[in-house]
Amino acid sequence: MDELAGRTAVVTGGGSGIGRGIALGLAAEAMTVVVADLHVESAEAVVAEIAERGGSGLAVQADVTSTESLAAAAKETLARVGPASLLCANAGVLAKIAPLEKHTLEDWEYTLSVNLLGVVKTVDAFLPALRRNAPQAHIVNTASLGGLISAEGFPIGAYVASKYACVGYSEVLRAELAGEGIGVSVLCPGVVESSLVATSMRNRPQGFGAQDAPEMNLRSGSDPAPAPVPSFMAAEDVGPIVVRAIRANRLHVLTHPAAREAVERRFEGIREDFDFASGSD
Ligand SMILES: NC(=O)c1ccc[n+]([C@@H]2O[C@H](COP(=O)([O-])OP(=O)(O)OC[C@H]3O[C@@H](n4cnc5c(N)ncnc54)[C@H](O)[C@@H]3O)[C@@H](O)[C@H]2O)c1
Repeated sequence: MDELAGRTAVVTGGGSGIGRGIALGLAAEAMTVVVADLHVESAEAVVAEIAERGGSGLAVQADVTSTESLAAAAKETLARVGPASLLCANAGVLAKIAPLEKHTLEDWEYTLSVNLLGVVKTVDAFLPALRRNAPQAHIVNTASLGGLISAEGFPIGAYVASKYACVGYSEVLRAELAGEGIGVSVLCPGVVESSLVATSMRNRPQGFGAQDAPEMNLRSGSDPAPAPVPSFMAAEDVGPIVVRAIRANRLHVLTHPAAREAVERRFEGIREDFDFASGSD
């Protein structure tokens, strides 16, 4: 997809953090940005920011764990700003910071319901609109650097598993939609300033039990737990990186060059295991 101006983009979780950064980046490219969020007030605040900068947007309420809510958001988008050409399935949660033995089943269910099934449901809801615009159509799913490496020393097992799954889903989706001219990318950011932990606690539905993660925001200057790549990026810096990757139809959208070595170590380990399996070590 190389024609962005004048087209419609949808960003879930667009009311905060990385979603807000992507929304502002797309609006700067003259796209009409539908900012979809569980909390419509935060989506409205981002749309107001877009308008202040001379762009245009629409705030819609959407819960990515609900097919009904997403169907309503897709219908409202179609009716008010036309079929989307770009979908950023970005909403996600970090529900637990603790070793696996401390993860409850509810921690797993909440994490997977947003970070994996939420992405699948979002794509299902907006794919019919994207198909109307192909080949000027693209999907960006937000996974994490934690979808490529398992964040040693940072106990977020359910999150890592959900993000590996998001990467796998995105790779398959890319292969399956290529013939239709619809591009698919997966955004794998390192640490970006956001409200991820606080928002995840606030948003956790009753049915998924209580969350006992410490109050911690992913903000430089607060007191974050050790992170895989301890360099914070401003959310607004993510937008232009995503725009460039969409235009080039890159599979992985990478934000933190310093993470390269850790990813290479993972693949080196896999290569060594192949050598071992073939008896050549
Ligand atoms: N911040 C980081 O360091 C970082 C790093 C890698 C990946 N990510 C991923 O980036 C994405 C955005 O996270 P962020 O860090 O900007 O966090 P954030 O909490 O600042 O923003 C997430 C937004 O998603 C919304 N949201 C949560 N659950 C929702 C639901 N069920 N339906 C609709 N909206 C919902 C929240 O209301 C919030 O506005 C997530 O997928 C996260 O896993 C973040």
